Amino acid sequence: MTSSAFDVAAVRRRFPAIDASPAAFLDGPGGTQVPQSVITSMEAALTDSMSNVGGAFDRSDASAAIVAGARSAVADLFDGEAVGVVFGQNMTSLTFAMSRALARRWVPGDEIVVTRLDHDANVSPWVLAAADRGVRVRVAEFDPTDGTLDLTSLHQVLGPRTRLVAVTAASNALGTIPPLTDVIAAAHGVGALVYVDAVHHSAHRAISLRTSGADFVTASAYTFFGPHTGMVIARPDHLAAFDPYKVVPAPDTGPARWETGTPSFESLAGVTAAVDYLASLGVGATRRQRIESAFRNIGEHEAGLAGRFLAGLAEQPRIRLFGLSDPNRLHERVATFAIEVEGMPPRRVAEHLGERGVYVWDGDYYAVGVMERLGKVPHGLVRIGFVHYNTADEVDRVLAALDEV
Ligand SMILES: Cc1ncc(COP(=O)(O)O)c(C=O)c1O
Repeated sequence: MTSSAFDVAAVRRRFPAIDASPAAFLDGPGGTQVPQSVITSMEAALTDSMSNVGGAFDRSDASAAIVAGARSAVADLFDGEAVGVVFGQNMTSLTFAMSRALARRWVPGDEIVVTRLDHDANVSPWVLAAADRGVRVRVAEFDPTDGTLDLTSLHQVLGPRTRLVAVTAASNALGTIPPLTDVIAAAHGVGALVYVDAVHHSAHRAISLRTSGADFVTASAYTFFGPHTGMVIARPDHLAAFDPYKVVPAPDTGPARWETGTPSFESLAGVTAAVDYLASLGVGATRRQRIESAFRNIGEHEAGLAGRFLAGLAEQPRIRLFGLSDPNRLHERVATFAIEVEGMPPRRVAEHLGERGVYVWDGDYYAVGVMERLGKVPHGLVRIGFVHYNTADEVDRVLAALDEV
């Protein structure tokens, strides 16, 4: 499939929920719809085998194969290694686990850096771990006028005692894509590890653990067209170097050492199917190449939606957009928009749209720092999120419904 041949109608037919509903699902940042292939894989896993791993019989081997398949799929999605892929309930619980393990090495006087742009799941686990260890937390700011990460502020809070920088790959509120390469270079320059939250980014752009140089990338399959399972993709040497909180009989080596209890095998089957679905939107000899090609197509389609939305918004003076609005800077953002309608609480706007079959979010979506910095506590903002299965018609629908508010 070439980018000009991105066939959104064909894509939509692959999603039963979209095919069956007249609604415009613009709630992707809170969880995307899933294609039939994901549902089929999950159903097959439950139908074929409900055995745990480690047994001396073939159905147990089948469960082990599901886990191995998911590790290899996720390694392709994030350009890491299968032995560096850890699964867990969701990104938040994995990040709590990783933060506790990494913090075991911190000593009083050390520092860590979080950003005001991040979802709280990439803030609070680190802040609490820091408090346990007497470690100072420093905060890198974003520019409230356009939602971009303030690199000057980042440089100011980095220092020789910085142990970790926790940074988002894309803001789930403002849509901004921080310059990850610069952030990682700056963090590594002072000897800090970098923990990248790709939960929001993963539906929109390809990311590479290998070429970005990130130490850890984390994601959640329910935001990239899969089921509710979280993951961390780490450099394998880091997984070996740090010690997780684990039960004694759990494996002592490999990524399973980081996984608490029995995983959801059916979800892991769905994770592989979600990665294969994404790969099917591109071309190439390897799955990774197809994924990169798919994200070029997805990026182009989403940029079209974003440009159309921004142009429509410019004609509605009662609506204020927070975040990048420059159509020439779409490469610095994904198609996720936080807006405010003059004189109407966000919840009421979302209800008005919901009554018209246009599903959007309102509130802070756990992007606590963003809302604090923008002075939008406690009601937050309305969030309209486009992913690759959304259409130009849906952009027009939401604009028309906003115009009526
Ligand atoms: C950017 C971002 N990070 C982290 C999370 C938390 O992910 P999970 O629900 O898997 O814990 C979310 C969920 O909305 C998110 O959007």
